[in-house]
Formats: sequence, structure tokens, C-alpha cells
Amino acid sequence: MRLLILGGTAFLGRAVARAAVGRGHDVTCLARGTDAVAEGAHLVRADRDHEDALVPLREDLWDAVVDVTRQPGQARRAVRDLRARHWVLVSTGNVYARFDQPEQGEEAELLDALEGDVMADMSQYGPAKVACERAVSEGHDSWTIVRAGLIGGAGDTSGRSGYYPWRFAHPTGPDVLVPPDLTFPVALVDVEDLASWLVDCAERRTQGVFNATGPTTTLQDVLEASRTVTGSDAAARPVPAETLREAGVSAWMGPSSLPLWIDDPGWRWFATLDSTAARRAGLRTRPLAATLAAALDHENQRREPRATGLTDDEELALRRRLT
Ligand SMILES: NC(=O)c1ccc[n+]([C@@H]2O[C@H](COP(=O)([O-])OP(=O)(O)OC[C@H]3O[C@@H](n4cnc5c(N)ncnc54)[C@H](OP(=O)(O)O)[C@@H]3O)[C@@H](O)[C@H]2O)c1
Repeated sequence: MRLLILGGTAFLGRAVARAAVGRGHDVTCLARGTDAVAEGAHLVRADRDHEDALVPLREDLWDAVVDVTRQPGQARRAVRDLRARHWVLVSTGNVYARFDQPEQGEEAELLDALEGDVMADMSQYGPAKVACERAVSEGHDSWTIVRAGLIGGAGDTSGRSGYYPWRFAHPTGPDVLVPPDLTFPVALVDVEDLASWLVDCAERRTQGVFNATGPTTTLQDVLEASRTVTGSDAAARPVPAETLREAGVSAWMGPSSLPLWIDDPGWRWFATLDSTAARRAGLRTRPLAATLAAALDHENQRREPRATGLTDDEELALRRRLT
């Protein structure tokens, strides 16, 4: 298969490139060239913010294109300018309008599509992805749209899947400080499993819209698996929400945060999706502990600053508030 990945040099895209190369496909990644491509793939340098960025590839015929963009203009121009037998768009669960029900299906209400070509900031991420989905579903006649849940594992630069394993491996005291609600639902999908299935979709020209998460678990499951993976005997110590607020600790992700928890009932089921259709179409996911072990590997080799969680000093300061 001649596969073009629009992107293909970051977390998920690179895993798709690796998986496709591993199956013997001829893989081209189109990106500006911030990072190197996976071994065995070719890089075409282009900036998709330019109207005519894809013109040099106009004469090529691809068996499949995989696009990870979040910019509606990029999605529209790609569908307009490239020739491919099948299109795979990586979308997100953020396209849904609400998150107050568990494991919603693909038919659930969506946000309104962003009208412009460019999303201004991450507050427009969901509407922008809805617009990207529309560009593909209205602009091509053979497509898979995959709404991924939270992706974790090898190379997770966001630090969301890696923080707790890393923290249990490097505790600052007898316990690890964690959010107050350990029943918070989490449904991590392993980047390698998702990537492998995206290649399946490209090969088989799978048709339709699919949610794609791992099985629904809880934050408690993530913490227990993190302890197992690291062999740590540190206990998990829940911190009251009010103490976290007073200390300026945010939820879900980012610096000075405790990830994989949101203190808002309207967002309780954000991390879960009904992925039955994807499983029927071949998505297979590995045990949570394997994903966390791979994420820990990345954290232990991380060169850039940790993007999510508490630093040692922040955890120590928070612990002092509890005593
Ligand atoms: N991480 C999660 O938990 C999560 C959850 C749900 C869905 N998703 C979706 O999963 C996908 C993740 O993709 P990803 O991990 O590969 O990372 P990404 O950060 O979404 O992809 C960026 C890729 O696009 C390229 N790129 C960015 N701007 C470009 C431009 N102007 N012109 C050409 N190329 C450009 C980048 O390379 P250069 O910088 O070199 O150009 C890189 O290869 C996305 O679709 C995301 O929305 C992620």
C-alpha cells in the first residue's frame, strides 16, 4: 500500500508510520519537519498553512491518506488537492456536545462545526475537529473517521498517561498525592493499538465513524496498575478538592496538575466512549498496565520539561498543606 500520512512525525502519527512500515507499506509523511520521521518512512516537507502546500503531490495516487490535522482549512485543502482511494481522519471525542453520560455512541450530539479555516486556540478544538470530519465525509467517498479517546503509552509527550507511573517510581514521600475521586472514569487507548488499527482501516478501507478508546476503568485502576508496574509500595493519598483549589493545582492535564480527573459533574464521562463498533471492526487493546509501563519508559527518558503533573517541589508543598 502507498500510504500518505499528513503529519506522521508526532506521537500518534509516528506510531502509525512505524506500524505501516512494519507491515511493509510504502510510507510517506508530510510535515514541516520539526521532528524526524520514523525509520523506513519518507518525509515530504511542506507547511499546510499555505494554500498550495499539497500541489507538488497532486499527481500522486495514494492507496490511503491518514490525516491527524485539527485545522479545518488543512483538512479541506487536503481532500481537495490529493488523490487517494481511501481517507482516514483521526478525530477526537471532543467533538461531542456533552460528557454527562457514560460511554456515548457515535450518534450522540456533536458541537457545531467551526466556520473558519483555522482554530484560534484549544477552546475551539472540538468544533474544529467537527469541521475536519465534515470536510472528509462531504469531500471524499471512501473514509474512516476515528474519534479517539485519551491516547497513552509510548512517547506520550502530554504526560497524562505517564505521570502516575512516573510519580510512583519517583515518590517524594511515603505516599503519592492523587485526586479526591478515585472512581473517576478513565478509558486510555494505547497509542500502538490505535495506530495498528488505523493502519487496518487504511488497508481494509473500513467505512464509517468510530469511537476508539480502551475499556472503561477508573483512576483507582490507573493508580493500582502504576504501583504494580513500578513495584512501588507508596500508598495513594487522595487530596480534598478544596485543598487542591487553594493550592492552585489544576485538573486533567498541564503543569501543576493532578491528571485524569475533572472536578465537574458535566465532564465526568469525558474520558469514556462506546467503542463497540471499533472493536467489531478490529480494534484490539492491550492491558492498562502495559500502556502505563510504556508511558513510564518515555517519562524516564524525557528530555523536554514534564508537561503534566506536579513537580517534586509542588508535591512536597502540597503535602505540607495536609499535615
Ligand atoms: N493525544 C490524545 O490523547 C488525543 C486524544 C484524542 C484525539 N487525538 C488526536 O490524535 C491525533 C494526534 O496526532 P499526533 O500525535 O501525531 O500529533 P499532532 O500534534 O496532532 O500532529 C502534529 C503533526 O502534524 C504536523 N503538522 C503540524 N502543523 C503542520 C503544518 N502547518 N503543516 C504540515 N504539517 C504540520 C506535525 O509535524 P511538524 O511540526 O513537523 O509540521 C506533526 O507531524 C490528532 O488528530 C489529535 O487530535 C489525540
